[in-house]
Amino acid sequence: MRVLVTGGTGFIGSHTVVELINAGHEAVIVDNLYNSDIHVLDRIEKITGVRPEFFETDILDFEGLEKVFQAHEYDAIIHFAGYKAVGESVAKPLVYYENNISGSLNLYHLAAKYNVKRIVFSSSATVYGDDFEAPFKEEYGYGTTTNPYGTTKLFNERILTDLAFADKELSAVLLRYFNPIGAHKSGLIGEVPNGIPNNLLPYIAKVANGQLPYLSVFGDDYDTVDGTGVRDYIHVVDLARAHVKALDYAMNHTGAEVINIGTGKGYSVLQVLHAYEKACGKEIPYKIVARRPGDIATCYADPSKAKKLLGFETQYDIEEMCEDGYRFSSQNPDGIK
Ligand code: WQD
Repeated sequence: MRVLVTGGTGFIGSHTVVELINAGHEAVIVDNLYNSDIHVLDRIEKITGVRPEFFETDILDFEGLEKVFQAHEYDAIIHFAGYKAVGESVAKPLVYYENNISGSLNLYHLAAKYNVKRIVFSSSATVYGDDFEAPFKEEYGYGTTTNPYGTTKLFNERILTDLAFADKELSAVLLRYFNPIGAHKSGLIGEVPNGIPNNLLPYIAKVANGQLPYLSVFGDDYDTVDGTGVRDYIHVVDLARAHVKALDYAMNHTGAEVINIGTGKGYSVLQVLHAYEKACGKEIPYKIVARRPGDIATCYADPSKAKKLLGFETQYDIEEMCEDGYRFSSQNPDGIK
């Protein structure tokens, strides 16, 4: 299958491109390199022996994006491209709605015009908001999102659901990711945050590398195992494999389907910190500080629908997530250049 991957040089995108190639598919990447580096292509080639075709194009540029559709026929699209910083989205909502909604509409227009009927969308557990109790189940529907980033994910889910209702040949698989971490076993690709990281694992990695002095743990008074927040961390390679399974599913089904992609297990901030300490063989200094506004106590998936519909189950545990994440970040302390 030839698959168009928007955002294919990013963290989840690059790992998915590797798994697509491993599964015998052809991946064509479109990315504006806003939050990734062109050298990711060298790394993908090193891992797989295949250099994917690449278009440096912004999905907001309709004419530019149309050239990508004119270059080839595609069997499917996996749509990752989008801004993803929660705090920034609160400060710059218009930028987030413009990029994540208008950019996606350009893509969906062109998919319709060029007859591409299978779309896998990169959604997020953030669409559950803070209305439900873990484990989160797809049948809960949508919660009240707490930031514009989350709202753009929710809107994209709604748009694709409406498109699939109107076009009975369309298949839209809406994957709700929990907390992707880790890196490819090769240590060649992984997560490269812009500036000071907001997310837990990139922050811990910088403390382990000596680039930041200590981790601030946001609250230890939640109703959890040790008072710190609990999340469903999933190895990015497992998440990438889920996309290949979702594509297979999209080939054989029509309509829109929401599917959680998580492990179903929750780990607290301190449990993750200790797993990372074991992986890197160093103590990670931390301080308990106030709760972060907008955080919930506990978030983990009910992963049974992914197993039932996609035959997908995770393979990697928290130890391997930390080992693989540490390998990448210690070998690439300044990112992929
Ligand atoms: C995990 C836990 C924090 C940083 C966010 C987005 C979500 C998705 C993934 C993606 C929480 C604690 C964190 C730190 C800490 N978006 N923490 N100190 O908040 O579950 O999800 O990222 O693109 O939409 O909301 O992930 O990694 O930020 O936090 O104590 O310096 O770690 O309080 O309990 P979160 P996270």
